[in-house]
Amino acid sequence: MITLKTPAETAKMREAGRIVAAMLAACRAAVRPGVTTGELDRIAAEILRKNGATSSFLGYYGYPATICTSVNDQIVHGIPGKRRLKEGDIVGIDAGAIVDGWHADAAITVPVGAVSAEAARLIAVTEEALRRGIAEAQVGKRLGDIGAAVQAVAEGSGYSVVRNYVGHGIGRAMHEDPQVPNYGAPERGIQIKEGLCIAIEPMLNAGGAETRTLEDRWTVVTGDGSLSAHFEHSLWCTAEGPIVLTAPHGQAAVAA
Ligand code: MF3
Ligand code: CO
Repeated sequence: MITLKTPAETAKMREAGRIVAAMLAACRAAVRPGVTTGELDRIAAEILRKNGATSSFLGYYGYPATICTSVNDQIVHGIPGKRRLKEGDIVGIDAGAIVDGWHADAAITVPVGAVSAEAARLIAVTEEALRRGIAEAQVGKRLGDIGAAVQAVAEGSGYSVVRNYVGHGIGRAMHEDPQVPNYGAPERGIQIKEGLCIAIEPMLNAGGAETRTLEDRWTVVTGDGSLSAHFEHSLWCTAEGPIVLTAPHGQAAVAA
């Protein structure tokens, strides 16, 4: 069941989204060789606490941390802990916040110190794929338009799109209907209505699209050990175009 959100409801989600953006900005600023993923988790938790918000992830099906940190061949859902980031790594940081019962969810991938040209290109292309997907989130278009745009950027750059994990509706729950795949055909899938709130989250692999889950039952890695990058924003679809709920405070929330 897809629920469309009112402006008052999306105001709460925007507040949650500003907090998510602050968590990600603080984590990005803390990323350097030698920092542990657990330290990033504590930085994010402190921002939630100061803002009187809670984590969308902590306790979700037993998930044990505030954020997800996914390093190198880890695609998503890496659990923060004692792992120390080292020069040349890339780290995906995924955060969600709840304000008055309303969720927002976003992710970035960050280079640790100097990274290879190939790692930097994978990060840039994944962010561009998200940007192009957001641009398709127009009332009257269809979810296939979003997926096709993301897929075209990814595959046009020689990367593969992860299919086993997809974006999602968001609101009173972190994961609501509809599913938002990062692949598809233009003009196919459900039509985008005013008030639809979705998280678009391309996961691009430098190698094949296959995935595998580690023994910890959370961390998803690439089947072939290749690098993977992940970016995500939560959006509100309006007649004037998509509004990025997880944009930083003071930054235009209206997509270009
Ligand atoms: N941001 C992730 C998503 O959109 C959620 C992390 S899963 C959790 O699917 F278990 F960590 F919450
Ligand atoms: Co998400």
